[in-house]
Amino acid sequence: MLIGSPPVELPEPPLSRGVLALRAWSESDVRGLVEGCSDPLTARYTSVPIPYTPEDARRFISFGRSQTTLPLAVVSGDDDTQVLGAVGLHAVSLTRRRSEIGYWTAPWARGQGVAQTALELLSSWALGPLGLERLDLYAEPENESSQRVATRAGYKRGALVRSGIALRGRRYDVVRFTLLA
Ligand SMILES: CC(C)(COP(=O)(O)OP(=O)(O)OC[C@H]1O[C@@H](n2cnc3c(N)ncnc32)[C@H](O)[C@@H]1OP(=O)(O)O)[C@@H](O)C(=O)NCCC(=O)NCCS
Repeated sequence: MLIGSPPVELPEPPLSRGVLALRAWSESDVRGLVEGCSDPLTARYTSVPIPYTPEDARRFISFGRSQTTLPLAVVSGDDDTQVLGAVGLHAVSLTRRRSEIGYWTAPWARGQGVAQTALELLSSWALGPLGLERLDLYAEPENESSQRVATRAGYKRGALVRSGIALRGRRYDVVRFTLLA
């Protein structure tokens, strides 16, 4: 990690489509983060701390964005105080022109295309204006909903990566999905 490197730039103009918008996390999102990340499905399939406390949320809001990560809130375009989910880039390498991407949707906003739209918006920007050439996302084989989101957003299913992710001290197999510029 390069000390002093600037964080990954924010999309400008901000990304939006229809009733959904992506924006940087703000201090007013503590409650939305705690509620969204306390959901058992999100806790199971992502690396959020369990239990997820307001302090976890504050730390994430203050320090989540870096030279290798770009976390964004998915909100309603009509009322951008309402957190519907999250989408973000991880392990960004501007020199290797690649990144990983991940997402979750709050339980009350699922089944409406939130994750798919957020994934499509951030992917197009990352492979367009940001200048990346490859995006990978990793989904557990049993996480069929996430795999459908990835496929519908244009990602191609790749190899099963054995013990590909570590969540809370345990390793899990994952399927790699890739989108190229
Ligand atoms: C996986 C996850 C992100 C999906 O989020 P979502 O916003 O509900 O995803 P989408 O709405 O885009 O797609 C989910 C379903 O809604 C359906 N849908 C999409 N648009 C819709 C609409 N306008 N109206 C009704 N249903 C719709 C899709 O067909 C899809 O159905 P299916 O996958 O059951 O066949 C969510 O379940 C989640 O947060 N899981 C826990 C965290 C997680 O697994 N993250 C990914 C780790 S790899």
